[in-house]
Amino acid sequence: MIGSGGREHALALALSQDPSVAAVHAAPGNPGMAEVARLHDVDPLVPEAVASLAASLEADLVVVGPEAPLVAGVADAVRARGIACFGPSREAARIEGSKAFAKEVMAAAEVPTGLARICATAAEVADALDSFGTPYVVKDDGLAAGKGVVVTTDRSAALEHAAECHRAGDLVLVEEFLDGPEVSLFAITDGTTVVPLLPAQDYKRSGDGDTGPNTGGMGAYAPLPWAPHDLVKQACERVLQPTVDEMARRGTPFQGLLYAGLALTGRGAKVVEFNARFGDPETQPLLALLESPLGVVLLTAAQGRADELAPLRWRDGAAVAVVVAAASYPTSPRTGDVVRGVETAAAHDDVAVIHAGTARDAEHRLVTAGGRVLAVTAVGNDVAAARKRAYEAVAHIEIDGAFHRTDIAAHVGG
Ligand code: GLY
Repeated sequence: MIGSGGREHALALALSQDPSVAAVHAAPGNPGMAEVARLHDVDPLVPEAVASLAASLEADLVVVGPEAPLVAGVADAVRARGIACFGPSREAARIEGSKAFAKEVMAAAEVPTGLARICATAAEVADALDSFGTPYVVKDDGLAAGKGVVVTTDRSAALEHAAECHRAGDLVLVEEFLDGPEVSLFAITDGTTVVPLLPAQDYKRSGDGDTGPNTGGMGAYAPLPWAPHDLVKQACERVLQPTVDEMARRGTPFQGLLYAGLALTGRGAKVVEFNARFGDPETQPLLALLESPLGVVLLTAAQGRADELAPLRWRDGAAVAVVVAAASYPTSPRTGDVVRGVETAAAHDDVAVIHAGTARDAEHRLVTAGGRVLAVTAVGNDVAAARKRAYEAVAHIEIDGAFHRTDIAAHVGG
């Protein structure tokens, strides 16, 4: 398991619960993952280092969590050693690594998405802002660790974000704003066959009521009781399968997890973004509900045999994850604060405390080491029951200056 965040802890935990998995190793991992995996101090961004580790462990499967190692070519290096890898090649990961490339693929595959203009100069940005009107959507073409998109009615803020992206040497996309609730729909694919997961929803703003700055995600839940009953079928037919087919047609098959961020507009579901990996924190509730053995599923897809997979099995009910964030997240998250109450929270029935930004200090105490510290994840008979359990568990977590949203999964009307 490559990576060190909440998504990777949730994946490592689910892999460790698969009876066919003999052992899980993680690079570099985190203190939560250390309970289910052996940790290795290997840089996830160095493809040859990851491939050498996998070879030395005689790994049957490498699962790459975050986007940056994928864009760096980790999956290519691992596969070059003859080891199965769940995660797209560097070329295929461009679907997340370049927003302009993703638009090109969608246009070729006739996948519904918002109109966009690719802008290389401030004058082009200004012209595009005026033709699309408010709210303005300005995106960095490249990977920007969740900080790439600004949605604003303030023209000067839109221009300033574009200028920042240009200063960093990136192109800028100015896009049509897509109205309607957003849904995260993930599919496991071997480059040909698409196996969808349940739809989920995340909360990107730092404060209750969707106020405050954008974050990596402050909570999530699944499934979505309010979503159209045919959402997954429609999205497979109109978005996921055509995209996978187009990537294969180009000679760069996408094998791994295709993440479609969809806006459910009055004119149907449209793609807001594609990602080339599991979403964080949506993965935490999704894997809490998954009954199919994750190791078997990911290995089968990595071996190009996804057509042999039965539809995924899910536990009845719902799951909710509430993120506990460090003081001053997302601007300048404070590190080194002691984290207390994890064992008490995790002792609740149907609760898992997933580590994201944690570390051990010199005295072996659990301390904060990143913006999103924990994702407290609970399962219940429905969203309300899962939510109640998650918040009861969150109440045990004590971190100086930390905060969480109180409205995760509170209004499940979309
Ligand atoms: N939850 C948003 C993301 O993973 O990109």
